[in-house]
Formats: sequence, C-alpha cells, structure tokens
Amino acid sequence: MPDFSADQVLTALGRVIDPEIRRPITDLDMVAGVDVVDGHAAVGIRLTIAGCPAARQIERDVLQAAESVAGAGNVTVDVTVMTPEQRRAMTEKLRGGAAQRSNQFGPTSLTRVYAITSGKGGVGKSTITANLAVALAARGLRVGIVDADVYGFSIPGLLGLVTAPSPETGKAAAVKPTQVGEMILPPIAFDVKVISIGMFVEDASVAVAWRGPMLHRTITQFLTDVYFGDLDILLLDLPPGTGDVAISIGQLLPQAEVIVVTTPQPAAADIAERSGVVARQTGQSIYGVIENMAGIVQPDGSVLELFGSGGGAEVARRLGAGQDAPVPLLAQVPLSVPLRSGGDSGVPVVLGDPDDPAAIAIRAVADRLATRARGLSGMNLGVTPRQPPPA
Ligand SMILES: Nc1ncnc2c1ncn2[C@@H]1O[C@H](COP(=O)(O)OP(=O)(O)OP(=O)(O)O)[C@@H](O)[C@H]1O
Ligand SMILES: [Mg+2]
Repeated sequence: MPDFSADQVLTALGRVIDPEIRRPITDLDMVAGVDVVDGHAAVGIRLTIAGCPAARQIERDVLQAAESVAGAGNVTVDVTVMTPEQRRAMTEKLRGGAAQRSNQFGPTSLTRVYAITSGKGGVGKSTITANLAVALAARGLRVGIVDADVYGFSIPGLLGLVTAPSPETGKAAAVKPTQVGEMILPPIAFDVKVISIGMFVEDASVAVAWRGPMLHRTITQFLTDVYFGDLDILLLDLPPGTGDVAISIGQLLPQAEVIVVTTPQPAAADIAERSGVVARQTGQSIYGVIENMAGIVQPDGSVLELFGSGGGAEVARRLGAGQDAPVPLLAQVPLSVPLRSGGDSGVPVVLGDPDDPAAIAIRAVADRLATRARGLSGMNLGVTPRQPPPA
C-alpha cells in the first residue's frame, strides 16, 4: 500500500494553477480538503463559479498532481462550487485585502502603462498593440491589453479570441470573460490578458454609440474589476483621434506613457502630432513614435514607398521639441502581407512568421520596452503637489 500523507498531497496541489486566474489553487482556497484513508486520497475542489470553463482542466491537473504522490488509481476528486461568501473572500484576497474596488494601476502601481494612439484611424495601432503584447509576453513578461477602442475594437480578433462564426449570421463574436462575483477574469491569448469592449456587446457590428460618461465608467470598470494580477506591462489600444477616451485615460492613468503610431507621409505628421499634444495636456509623457506602413523592399532590391517617407521622424522631432525627454522614432514597420494576414487569422506575425521584416521591427520595440525597469523612478507621475491634510 502506498505510504503518503495528506500534507504531501496538498503540497503537490500547490503546483496546480488556475488557468484563468493564474495562481495556484491552494492560494485561492479552492482546495476544500484532502483525506487520506488506507492509501487512498479523496480531494475536494471548490470551483470559483458553476460552469467554470476551466473546470475540466483543473480537475485533470488536480488528479495528476495528487496521483504523483498517491499513485495512479488511488485518488478521487470531488468537485463543488464556492459559496458566495467563499467567493467574496477569494476575490478580496486577490485584490490584496482591499474590500473596496480600486484602480489596479493607480499611482503606486509598478506596472508600466503604454497608451498606443494615433491622430487618424487605420494606421495600424491595434495590429501593433497586439504584436507588441505577444512579443513582450514571449519574453516572459506579464502583459495585459485594455482595448479601449469602443468604436472599432479589434484586439479580440487580432489575437484569435473569437468564437466560431454563427451559422445564422456568419459572424464570429469575441469570447466572453468569466465573471467571479464582481471580478472579471480577462481571457488570455498567447499569454496576454485581454479585455475589450467587444467582449461585452451582443452584436459587434452595432456601432457602440456611447457618450463620454459611459465610456469613462467602462474604462474605470476595466481598471478596477478586471483581474489582471501584477503586470509588468499594460498596453492600451485607444480609438483614433483625441476624444473622450484619451481624456479618461489621462485622468485614470496619469503615469501612462504614450506611443504615437503614424504613417510615413509627411502630410500625416500634423494630425499625429496633435494626438501627442493632447496626451501631454492630460499629463502623460510621450515615449516614442512608431512609423507604420513604411517602405517595402521589392524582389529587385528597390524600396517601394507607397505612403511616402519621413513622417515618423518628423512627428518624433516635433513632439520631442515639446517635452524634456527626447522622443525617439522607435521603429519603421514596413508594409507587410504577413502582418496583415496574421491579424486576420488571429495569430500575430511576431509568432506566426517571426522572420518577416515587420515582425523584426516590432520585436525591436518589444526589446526596448522589455529592458526598461519596472517601477516609478524616472516616470512622470502627473501628480500635483499634495495638499496639506485638513486641520
Ligand atoms: N504594416 C502593415 N502592412 C500591411 N497591412 C497593415 C500594416 N499595418 C496595419 N495593416 C493593416 O491595416 C489595417 C488597419 O490596421 P489596424 O486595425 O491595426 O489599424 P488601427 O489604427 O487600429 O485602426 P482603427 O483606427 O480603425 O482602430 C488592418 O487591416 C491591418 O492588417
Ligand atoms: Mg484599432
């Protein structure tokens, strides 16, 4: 008869990670109990919610971990669901003991936040955001994306977080996040935690005609109720232009640094510059400029500059003149069919076709971001001097 203790089984269960929350189930109070009688282990597991999409995997992983101690065939797993009180205790624990909902990326957060903006639409913000995120995650960083583009959310599709097309409409929908009490668990693609307005609307083809306050509330909710855990980097995909969302981000995430995406034609420089200037007005500093849709090398070696050249450098120069820190041109990402088709198929080119010149250019930006230290030092906190407490 195998000789082992309940404690040994429990230790093994500490290696089972909840796939959505990304923490050991033993930390989440998901282990209801371990009883060992006559060489047989009975393990009780409490899922966070009924119908938990990860239930199968958790059960399988628990069985495997327990059998690694008890031996094959010597384990039974009994699966139940947490009571509302247990769920509340767990979500409170995940928030670090804060019963109150608060912004996870407040001024003391060590997460680096980058807002990807542009003056006009269709310049490749979302494509670059998605590729940067997976390139950073592939380096082992903990990365999240908030898709704050309420009008044209596209991050779920770019990362394959979509359902099969509906037989009636032929349309795919963004996957729905799991909700645990008031906590929303962001779906994960290529190790990136993703939240998008597209995950909360029934019909993605209906334009989201929301006004400022509603947008502000939604973004606030993303930053408070979505469980990102301790991220190294959060990327925000903003809608084009200089609207309400940019202002909300400025208020909610004053430490965010801005990356401006522009196309190469010099005429686009004015409008791209404006988006950077607005960001600065809301207290953010500009980290750099990415020129997208730059020239493509043709088979004969010549470079086809479909959209002209020089725009990125010009925007960087102008924005740099307006702040202390210089604004570098971080990359010139060429026009690329694999970049586009990777977006359409939901497998970012940095993973799907890593030798593509666009993938190489985006990875170079990821390298640069990845080597910046975590933390607040050297960052513009955008805070005003503190008032003395009332007497
Ligand atoms: N370097 C590139 N080469 C080829 N196609 C590209 C490139 N960058 C982006 N695209 C394509 O251009 C289109 C627009 O890109 P994307 O949606 O990322 O832009 P956006 O700035 O986020 O747009 P919006 O303002 O609508 O949110 C997509 O079809 C994308 O695949
Ligand atoms: Mg977009």
